Amino acid sequence: MKKGNLLYEGKAKKVFETDDPNILIVDYTDNATALNGLKKGTIVGKGAINNRMTNHMMRLLEQKGVPTHYVEELSDRETAVKRVSIVPLEVIIRNIAAGSFSKRYGVEEGTPLKISTIEFSYKDDALGDPLINDYHALALGLCTEEELNTIKKYAFAVNDMMKEYLLNLGIILVDFKLEVGRLADGTIVLADEISPDTCRFWDKDTMQKLDKDRFRRDMGGAEDAYQEVMKRLMGE
Ligand code: TMP
Repeated sequence: MKKGNLLYEGKAKKVFETDDPNILIVDYTDNATALNGLKKGTIVGKGAINNRMTNHMMRLLEQKGVPTHYVEELSDRETAVKRVSIVPLEVIIRNIAAGSFSKRYGVEEGTPLKISTIEFSYKDDALGDPLINDYHALALGLCTEEELNTIKKYAFAVNDMMKEYLLNLGIILVDFKLEVGRLADGTIVLADEISPDTCRFWDKDTMQKLDKDRFRRDMGGAEDAYQEVMKRLMGE
């Protein structure tokens, strides 16, 4: 597979075309942003960790019946994925109150939720990714009702699988964000990444944050936190 032209440059990843029109190459960088791009920085080593963790999780999810865009890890930072058109939704599952949920509803961070929740944001940087509900997503034509049901089913399946898997590694899955895309034939698959950039991970014993909140909140120790997650996941 030959790496071709740069198709798209996101905040933390670059996407390249290949000689196969159905395959793209994602290149993970160490760039970190927060506050819708207002805060910029670097987390050294993050690109390789996010690439490898995402692929590890996507391979596990595929085995459990959740389809993903994953094709093949090409290098520490590069992965071949199926070309999808991204559904412009950020799909967020929460198990424990944190971040915007705590702020919006006045719930102390760390409060366990009585049920796991799902919410959607409209993926639009100019609008600041506003929170929307199912009706809004359908009214805006972002997806069909059938697609929305599939997305919810997959998101909760990902939560069930990841929660258990990570707890065995001493990590509490607080919340996470997923993105999904459509293959050429319309099939919904998991896309984007599953990493400390897009999930909140807390150490089971110390409740220490092992994720991007260390960068977002200027806590320090982001590099070590990413390394620690990688070590537990891959034993290195
Ligand atoms: P929030 O509490 O800030 O809404 O974040 C919920 C989860 O979504 C958290 O695990 C971080 C993740 N997330 C992203 O991956 N990208 C984003 O742009 C935002 C706002 C959150």
